[in-house]
Amino acid sequence: MPSPHPDEPPRADARRRLAELRSEIARHDRLYHQLDAPEISDEAYDALWHELRELEARHPELVDPDSPSQRVGGAPVAGLESAAHLAPMRSLDSSAKEAAFRQFDARVRRALGEDAEIVYSLEPKIDGLSVELVYEAGRFARAVTRGDGLVGEVISHNVRTIGALPLELDGGRRPVPPLLSVRGEVYLALEAFDDVNERLISEGKAPFASPRNLAAGTVRQLDPALAAERPLTLFAYDVLEAGAGEDGHGALTRHQQVLEALADWGLPTNPENRLVGSADAVWAAFEAFAERRDALAYEVDGLVVKLDDLAARRRLGDTAHHPRWAFAIKFPPRKEVSQVLRIVASVGRTGVVTPVALLRPVNIGGVTVGRANLHNREDLSRKDIREGDTVRVERAGDVIPQVVERLAGPPGAERGAPFRMPEACPSCGTPLIDRGPYTVCPNAFGCPAQAVARLVHLGSRIALDVEGLGDVTARLLVEAGLVRELPDLFDLTAADVERLEGFAAVSAAKLEAAVRQAARTTVPRFLVALGIPEVGPAVARALAERFGTVEALRAADAATLAGVRGIGGVMAAAIAGFFADPRNARVVDRLLDGRVEVEPFDVVAPASDALAGETLVFTGALAGFTRGAAEALVARLGGRAAGSVSQRTTLVVAGADAGSKLERAAALGVPVVDEAGFLAFLEGRGVDPVELQQEAS
Ligand code: IVH
Repeated sequence: MPSPHPDEPPRADARRRLAELRSEIARHDRLYHQLDAPEISDEAYDALWHELRELEARHPELVDPDSPSQRVGGAPVAGLESAAHLAPMRSLDSSAKEAAFRQFDARVRRALGEDAEIVYSLEPKIDGLSVELVYEAGRFARAVTRGDGLVGEVISHNVRTIGALPLELDGGRRPVPPLLSVRGEVYLALEAFDDVNERLISEGKAPFASPRNLAAGTVRQLDPALAAERPLTLFAYDVLEAGAGEDGHGALTRHQQVLEALADWGLPTNPENRLVGSADAVWAAFEAFAERRDALAYEVDGLVVKLDDLAARRRLGDTAHHPRWAFAIKFPPRKEVSQVLRIVASVGRTGVVTPVALLRPVNIGGVTVGRANLHNREDLSRKDIREGDTVRVERAGDVIPQVVERLAGPPGAERGAPFRMPEACPSCGTPLIDRGPYTVCPNAFGCPAQAVARLVHLGSRIALDVEGLGDVTARLLVEAGLVRELPDLFDLTAADVERLEGFAAVSAAKLEAAVRQAARTTVPRFLVALGIPEVGPAVARALAERFGTVEALRAADAATLAGVRGIGGVMAAAIAGFFADPRNARVVDRLLDGRVEVEPFDVVAPASDALAGETLVFTGALAGFTRGAAEALVARLGGRAAGSVSQRTTLVVAGADAGSKLERAAALGVPVVDEAGFLAFLEGRGVDPVELQQEAS
């Protein structure tokens, strides 16, 4: 045996330090992922990781499966193994109808006796994937899909990548049972879902129709590297089995206590969970919840009603399919049937040419849909969608609605011929090339359609949010030769714009003002605006948090980028490759050369929860704040600042020259205040006016 290097710390010390590092990292993961309250900077967190990796490299014999280093980068598995659940994982009885829920309530009351006091636990029904998480002696042992309810597939290699999953349970507040089986839902938050889809679309791949499909498609992959790039998360909502012994669980009598125990052990539980005392209260809560459906950060498909009293649950028992003590009240699905009127080829900002279905307009969950993406020719021919077909259209998150499948049309309905991709770019005439399943216009910097798509993307609400810079205006600007590349937008004057068809003095001045206002922005918005492949809002935020400024990010090599939370090798290479291309570098240089002003990113942890649950939208110019400062303030106060008005919005703050967002707010009945109203609103929430003054710029 080689003798240890004289500088090498003795093994016992290394073991002790590794244990410390693991528990420190686990604690910071919990603060970051579950409590949304990080205590240390990303650099300090990186330093802990660095030390852990170094020490593990020197002592490979001390690496154990609970080390956070084993979350990602685990080896791919050869195939998915099966495992029996420790207790059956049943489904839920469900309906969208109030009468069906009332019958459930009546059955429960009949079974428990009319005098029984009934308390229901209400929980959002997360549209994700049900999993069993097994902990042995407090350590994460495996994760198993629901499967047929008795036997599922082992997906531990992917579930391990979930930052919110404790690899070791916390026994500090309550003893951890020797064997614990927890049921929960693995899901993808909407923002991450949109990001992943955005990435897939930019690579010419078919996006997923719902966060559920994406979560399901991810956890069953063999290589965990893929899951590590898709930020799955989870909520735990039940204990399936808690072994024997003094575990602090056997004594529990109410579901609410079970949820508390899960949280004590460090498992994430949904803060929306609550108790109500009557069927009427359940229904009122369901209706209020339906109103807030769009405001949640994740997709929900209903509300689960569960009896809180565990002894009463046992008396009611189960059917083979579902427990008799729980019921899901469902929301209407975000799917509709429509008809394909035409299929056209559309050139995206990365040159990928995709077939797009023009649909008979249809309302899906409050949004009128007239176009849907058909992705690429392989996907199109697999689904065999043609003009005239009746199709199912689905939308989730903010992604372009999608044609999910073809349905049987009316008898005798005419079907068009199969769609054929054009051979030349419909915009610039360049011969199209095949890149895997995608058809691409290779004329990246000369194709007007790509320039238009990049401009529309830069103006979109997730990027610089330029009011009035839609498809039509972008096309006019590019066709008139006023905008050849993105920086030209910021050199426009109202006089230039006024010469365009359909513009007059007032509308031209408005566009100029909107561009000027959008030119003061934040690092994440700027990064999204650049249209870097793979970079949507969540990735842009992670990059901004890590690098602070665009310059620092540009200077980072692929290896450094790959070390950022949630960014894997493929993304890192795409980002580094983007900045390395001299034509992109020129665009970035010109943008930063006085055209766009990017505020350095302040790493903010919410300092309070004064605005928890609030989603604010700022429109027009404020006198006392830049848009970025106002948005950062909202984040610091625990709220959300969004780019567009939706049913999720709780308040619109309108500054000077506010535009169409006001009409949308009026249409949706969202309250609108001016800047003074905003300050009054903050003070009403207990925000200190002195702090506000410091915030204002
Ligand atoms: S309770 C026996 N609670 O809904 C109890 N399920 O349609 C059954 N789901 O397979 C599950 N959120 O994947 C429960 N808070 C929640 C849930 C939830 C989502 C899913 C779960 C289940 C499906 C049943």
